[in-house]
Amino acid sequence: MRIKSAHFVISNTEVAKCPQSTLPEYAFIGRSNVGKSSLINALCNKKSLAKTSSRPGKTQLINHFLINENWYLVDLPGYGYARVSKSDKKVFQHYITSYFLKRKQLISAFLLIDIRHEPQPIDLKFMQWLGEQQIPFAIIFTKADKLKPKALEKNIETYCEKLREQWEALPPQFITSAQNKSGIDAVLAYIDTLNKSVQNHFKD
Ligand code: GTP
Ligand code: MG
Repeated sequence: MRIKSAHFVISNTEVAKCPQSTLPEYAFIGRSNVGKSSLINALCNKKSLAKTSSRPGKTQLINHFLINENWYLVDLPGYGYARVSKSDKKVFQHYITSYFLKRKQLISAFLLIDIRHEPQPIDLKFMQWLGEQQIPFAIIFTKADKLKPKALEKNIETYCEKLREQWEALPPQFITSAQNKSGIDAVLAYIDTLNKSVQNHFKD
């Protein structure tokens, strides 16, 4: 799939004020600084569609981007950033949970994991929660360009081993770099497949 158009639509703190539409959407979630906003820019091939920063805590709202006039990408605030105050953390947590619990248009979440690091309890817990809420998700490993191929392979194997302790079947996985664009086409193809299956579902 080619992205022909990508526009910022609205930023919100309240899921009730998100676009009133039935178009399918896909939300990017994960720890602060994992590369959610950068990945959205790489998918859309637009440098500054979503705001990015080397300092964690850049995205603080629920941001909707309309793609090809018929589906949305959603950039969310990160979780697990120690320097955000406790009260801010609670507020972010609240938007994030209510977004996932209430947004019926959400077809799949993408949970981003920085592949340089060992599996982190906060990510594993968040996956557990998504599973309990029956919210479909795929894993996107980010910053693959920062590791040599052997180390990358080893970290992915370690991560999958950890996931097998928790999950009988592993969620779909993608290995990406927003910097060198590896894995971007695979994520787009996956979204395209999901979009088509939603359209067929509504046709039946
Ligand atoms: P918050 O909005 O704070 O939650 O962060 P985020 O997850 O949106 O991360 P963001 O996209 O702002 O990226 C954080 C930092 O990581 C920036 O300095 C990016 O340039 C860098 N970064 C993101 N993706 C990649 C990648 O694939 N490779 C490399 N080398 N750097 C990346
Ligand atoms: Mg961001």
